[in-house]
Amino acid sequence: MTQKLLEESCLYLKNKGFENPEIGIVLGTGLGRLIDHIEFAVVAHYHNIPFFPLATVEFHSGKLIYGTLEDKKVVVMQGRFHVYEGYEFEEVTYPIRVMRELGIEKLFISNAAGAVNLNFKKGELMLIEDHINLQGGSPLAFKNVANFGIRFVDMSQPYDLEMCEKIKYIARRENIVLHKGVYASVVGPQLETKAEYRMLKTIGADAVGMSTVPEVIVANHLNLPVVAVSVLTDECDPDNLEPVHISEIIKVAEETEPKMIKLFLELIKDL
Ligand code: HPA
Repeated sequence: MTQKLLEESCLYLKNKGFENPEIGIVLGTGLGRLIDHIEFAVVAHYHNIPFFPLATVEFHSGKLIYGTLEDKKVVVMQGRFHVYEGYEFEEVTYPIRVMRELGIEKLFISNAAGAVNLNFKKGELMLIEDHINLQGGSPLAFKNVANFGIRFVDMSQPYDLEMCEKIKYIARRENIVLHKGVYASVVGPQLETKAEYRMLKTIGADAVGMSTVPEVIVANHLNLPVVAVSVLTDECDPDNLEPVHISEIIKVAEETEPKMIKLFLELIKDL
């Protein structure tokens, strides 16, 4: 990756009208409907953006949408890149760098995740307060990383405290259950075995999913304040594990999405 490639991706987007977005938003699997709220939307399909990786999984529609939400300029990723699709960590996180280069000052991330903490139920939300990277790699492990920021990024507080406090307050006010917890990221795409769920619980995870952590690491690399919410789509109880199908995960994500949208819209209003 080079600064020149990033600048070319940005130039294409700026020419389409992606001017000075304040907030970047990543929408997870089954969580694309926030875009219905965007006014004055301009759409750029990933496959048309120079140097963007290509989305491969059929249920990710793969576009970057610019517009206003609650009178703030935003850029929204509908569909993200995953390591399980065969992308490198650098590719998975390239759009985060592009959005930062476009000028975003805050990043909101959402994902669909399994509930490892059995006090949490499917259809509820969890604010990610910390994470465990089990993907076996880093988006900062590349040769010229020093051209983009420091190599040994501090991760003592990866999620922005101020936005976390605000979103907790909003959830209370709006009567939305918002658990707080630790998100473990795995590569996937297979779901976990019973033994793996036991391990995840033992090491301190409350939820598990296949995304978000690389993006959060890069946000920290870019000194970009980030907040992340998991939509809990299934309950990962090793002693009563039922088969889960991706279609069920997507269905629960879609049903739960309105609560996540509410939190994000209210948070945007508050910033
Ligand atoms: N693991 C288990 N359940 C899930 C996941 C996962 O990665 N993502 C959504 N539900």
